Amino acid sequence: MTVPPKPNKARQLLPKQCYYSSTWFEREHRELFSRSWTFACTAQDVLHVGDYKAVQINRYPMIVVRTRDGSLRAYHNTCRHRGTQIFEEGAGNCRHGIVCPYHAWTYNIDDGSLRGLPKKDLCFAGMNLADWPLHSGSVGTIGDLVFVNPMAQPDEDFDTWIGSMPRTHMWPHSLEGLSEKRPIRYDIHCNWKVFCENAMDGYHLSYLHDKTLMGPDVEDQDWDAVHRHWVSIGFGENPSRENSHYATIPGTAMSGRRPVVWQFFPNSGVLATSIFFSAYVIVPVGPERCYLELRTWMAPRPKDEKPKEEGRRSGTSGHGHIMKDGRRYISIDELGCHAMEALDFQIEDMWVVEQQQKALHSPMMKTGELADYGETSLTFFQANILDMVPLEAP
Ligand code: FES
Ligand SMILES: [Fe+2]
Repeated sequence: MTVPPKPNKARQLLPKQCYYSSTWFEREHRELFSRSWTFACTAQDVLHVGDYKAVQINRYPMIVVRTRDGSLRAYHNTCRHRGTQIFEEGAGNCRHGIVCPYHAWTYNIDDGSLRGLPKKDLCFAGMNLADWPLHSGSVGTIGDLVFVNPMAQPDEDFDTWIGSMPRTHMWPHSLEGLSEKRPIRYDIHCNWKVFCENAMDGYHLSYLHDKTLMGPDVEDQDWDAVHRHWVSIGFGENPSRENSHYATIPGTAMSGRRPVVWQFFPNSGVLATSIFFSAYVIVPVGPERCYLELRTWMAPRPKDEKPKEEGRRSGTSGHGHIMKDGRRYISIDELGCHAMEALDFQIEDMWVVEQQQKALHSPMMKTGELADYGETSLTFFQANILDMVPLEAP
């Protein structure tokens, strides 16, 4: 594996089949997601001994657990008996053991070892418990954010993966001072890369989002490559946008005081401003389906700061959604208005990526020129995909 350099010219590298082919999608699971790092939860989610968070890490249901020595461990959330998912997605405490609900096989939180099972002598004579621990994954943290890799010994260890980014103080604030809003899951009918590329496309911000984000224009933004990750900053004057209070962005040479976005390769990201902090994962569900899992924390507003103009903010307005398991679920089909009338930049993005996906199947559709200012990020992202999932020789 060779991390590609930051490109000067923008160019479409992936053939369009990579955005809908089920064969390519399976290769991505095998060659990319089975060995990549993904945002799983926050340290606050698993603060006390036995606290766990059960999350879907791409195709792998996994558990992050706080062990007795205060460290974090990640296990695959599949029982070694008959494979049942042990915990439903969500949080809880399993201080007394990780117990499968099906036949009560019980695992230790500290190392995942199988501690016991009912009727062992009768049903499993001669069985050695030590042979049946939960499968382990790996854990790494940046500040309060916990990332998980499905491999026990990842090909790329966490320190290599985060590159020059420091493990702490990457954000303008600590999550401890912020209050979390209700998480949102956006159900999106597009390939996960179409969504990621849109998130890294700096060219569209002033046009698709002319009523919501209103920019910044391409000349008012910059990005840098940190290992395989894309880090973006907006600058320039626009009083309607939140700043990030950054003098210099940790781990990069960039400076600016506008919102900062990290897109952690391949499919996690963070958006940091002075007043809110979001962390998200784009979970691939099928070749043409993904969902965006978004968590947002709000900072207390400084006393001297004026309230924001209504309708200019992001992703958290109350448009057509259903509530389930403490989450809001949003899909374009449930909206009570056209997506472009929702005045919500996240819904505008969701609409446009679905429009892009629909056109992919037309024999006439072929990606044209990409913008050398604003879309080199797509070339970088695609070069990283190809480094992990190379095009097969013709
Ligand atoms: S499947 Fe878990 S105990 Fe049987
Ligand atoms: Fe957008």
